[in-house]
Amino acid sequence: MQMVINSMAVHTSGNKNNPAIIFVHGFPFDSWMWHKQVQRFRKEFYCVTYDIRGLGESYVGDGQYTMEAYVSDLMSIIDHLGIEKPILCGLSMGGYLALRATEKFQERFSGLVLLDTKADADDDKGKLVRANKINQINIDGLEAFVDGFVPPLFAEEAEKDYKKLFYETIHRCKQNNPLGVKGALIAMLSRTSTVKFLKKIKIPTLVISGSQDKLTPPVKMRDISEKIPNSEFAIVPRAGHLSPLENAPFVNDVIEGFIKRRVLIK
Ligand code: MLT
Repeated sequence: MQMVINSMAVHTSGNKNNPAIIFVHGFPFDSWMWHKQVQRFRKEFYCVTYDIRGLGESYVGDGQYTMEAYVSDLMSIIDHLGIEKPILCGLSMGGYLALRATEKFQERFSGLVLLDTKADADDDKGKLVRANKINQINIDGLEAFVDGFVPPLFAEEAEKDYKKLFYETIHRCKQNNPLGVKGALIAMLSRTSTVKFLKKIKIPTLVISGSQDKLTPPVKMRDISEKIPNSEFAIVPRAGHLSPLENAPFVNDVIEGFIKRRVLIK
């Protein structure tokens, strides 16, 4: 079912009485990035995906976003749908959002899945890289930015091995409103670090990394996992930064095993 909540495009799938999973996408993508997870999990779970404000079909507004506002948006969706203790699953920027939401409202979630993400905030070099990206969008346009930024996120052989998915992902990124994309860059640039919070995470947590992820490589993801008490860690073969798209069967198996073993136990 598709609906608009707090001016965001939200999709729900599955029986509302089942345990809920809320999926938060990365940058500069949209809720479509989870379609292979929804396909798999909707039989046993209530799946919620949404387009982060400014991206996909969500309202762009003035393009002035913060990670704090993104977290409020997430909580507004959970409240509106009346979901009790969903499992929160975020990739990259969605992981930044999920970590900050957990830092603020840990008791509201029953489990956490972090894919290809980071806990630290941008350092000075990272902030300048973001500033350059905003400049590039202003000068060369969104299409040129996406053509430079998105393809290297995939695993080495992606263009050859799953051509359709590769090009569809790039095409979808180009449909975004440039104002929303720049707003997301500012939200990421100004986010706080959640590194110190990692050791305080008490809910069951799974950390997943694409084996060929260059942006958030397995060694960094393992480090996050080691800081989270009792968390699980998995490396996804044949996947870069976009593991749920690139190797969905593997990612889905790992998530399902984790949820059944660690989250749904009474
Ligand atoms: C993402 O995939 O969400 C972005 O690459 C994250 C980032 O640019 O920090």
